[in-house]
Amino acid sequence: MIQRKIFAANWKLHKTPAETRKFLLEFKTKLDALQLPYEKEVVFFPSAISLEAASEVLKESRVKCGVQNVCSQGSGAFTGENSALVAKELGATYILIGHSERRHLFHETDDLIAEKVNYVQSLGLTPILCIGETLSERESQKTKEVCARQLKVGLSRAHATKPLVIAYEPVWAIGTGKVATSEQVEETHTDVYNILKEIGFPDGAILYGGSVKADNAKGLVNRSHVSGFLVGGASLEVDNFLQICISG
Ligand code: PGA
Repeated sequence: MIQRKIFAANWKLHKTPAETRKFLLEFKTKLDALQLPYEKEVVFFPSAISLEAASEVLKESRVKCGVQNVCSQGSGAFTGENSALVAKELGATYILIGHSERRHLFHETDDLIAEKVNYVQSLGLTPILCIGETLSERESQKTKEVCARQLKVGLSRAHATKPLVIAYEPVWAIGTGKVATSEQVEETHTDVYNILKEIGFPDGAILYGGSVKADNAKGLVNRSHVSGFLVGGASLEVDNFLQICISG
């Protein structure tokens, strides 16, 4: 049986709407030719401003899209925020929540993240809750404790029966070229899986993220409890990301 895998592209603040259309047209054509099994899902997270361009190109395609952050409220006086309601109307099915850059650059707390997870699920969208330790936390053997806290608080208002995806992304591996070893990935994914089971989310998929590239994806994708990848830098070029999508 082919296992369900998710290959997600986090474009951060890259690509204009025109660049998004051009990339996705080429990607879609090449992906169709590869006949990837349907158990493998591909999801793009363009900047929110490019979401409409992405979803126009991806209409009637198996490739999904979403946004990288949303407000915990659907409408109101929240200048500069992204609305999950608007994202849904524009074709989003997944929402990234609590990415390391949101936590560290924009000071998002676990409590705010919990509100977002709850709201996104209530709209029928699938949250991808990002968790992960900093380098000093790993060096002081706190990885499991940090992941447990981020999961327990981040999912404290989540619906156990609705779809949920976790992305384990060690902060020290994001954008640094320092990928976690397959042993580190397997060990932490097993911990994450056990914590999810203990707190009532046994079916949550667990992606790995942090400097994933075509050449390291193969060694990570079949490790225990690895359900796919969240890819930043290596998803910005069509052939690089395609290579990762066919890795598993
Ligand atoms: P990276 O980013 O693949 O460039 O390390 C991953 C992420 O930020 O989700």
